[in-house]
Amino acid sequence: MLFELNDVIKEYDGVPVLHIENLQFEENKIYAIMGPNGSGKSTLLKLLNLLEKPSHGQIIFQGFDTGKAGDSMLLRLRRQMCMVFQHTYMFNASVYQNVSYGLRLRGIKCPELQTRVKEALSFVGMSDFSGRNALKLSGGETQRVALARAVAFRPQILLLDEPTANLDPDSVALIERLVQRIHETTHTTVLIVTHNLFQAKRLADEAIFLYEGNLIEKTPVPQIFTEPQSEVTRRFVSGTMVY
Ligand SMILES: Nc1ncnc2c1ncn2[C@@H]1O[C@H](COP(=O)(O)OP(=O)(O)OP(=O)(O)O)[C@@H](O)[C@H]1O
Ligand SMILES: [Mg+2]
Repeated sequence: MLFELNDVIKEYDGVPVLHIENLQFEENKIYAIMGPNGSGKSTLLKLLNLLEKPSHGQIIFQGFDTGKAGDSMLLRLRRQMCMVFQHTYMFNASVYQNVSYGLRLRGIKCPELQTRVKEALSFVGMSDFSGRNALKLSGGETQRVALARAVAFRPQILLLDEPTANLDPDSVALIERLVQRIHETTHTTVLIVTHNLFQAKRLADEAIFLYEGNLIEKTPVPQIFTEPQSEVTRRFVSGTMVY
């Protein structure tokens, strides 16, 4: 098992925003995380990325109780994952530098550094943009560079928080193909938060539905759409949920 969450509660200022009794993620699968705004999707990803700690409960990652891990162990565990956000932060430098920066921080040096950056940019079809200023890219191009940045780390787990939210249908399709290829070629486990039900159908093996901070269900795709186990999920996937 890759991740196991046991009775996890996340509170902000004493207010619980996420409560998950039990949830497990297996290796080599694609999971879609769905739910209305504020249901706790991003909070769940931040907990899994070990960026934030749960207020209560246990997150076991690859057999380690992360609550008991020291700083250096946490860093080692975190380096197996990469997160891509809806709004990607690029700094004012070339695309090449934006992709290479994180690798350099991890002590990777030329020639391996150069090989990895070139391979990653080629993978997302952005080789020609290598010398361009990253701040001048379109939204779709930016997300491709964000994926290149993630791919260059060769992570075991890819955490994607609405990576295609502001993109046109062609760019969405391109990012989805890239995610699928990453998954197929490197057996990377992918957790993708999405409001796009079609995207969940196209990409995921299993879908997780959160509502008001609670895990409502975790069901294989396409059954979550055809035979949802709970009434709230049914309303969500049929588009009749009133927020
Ligand atoms: N750092 C924080 N401090 C206080 N409250 C927070 C913090 N982060 C999230 N919350 C609250 O936790 C709840 C869940 O937020 P979260 O961002 O996980 O939702 P979400 O499902 O990702 O929503 P969206 O679809 O809008 O991105 C919200 O009510 C939010 O206001
Ligand atoms: Mg969110």
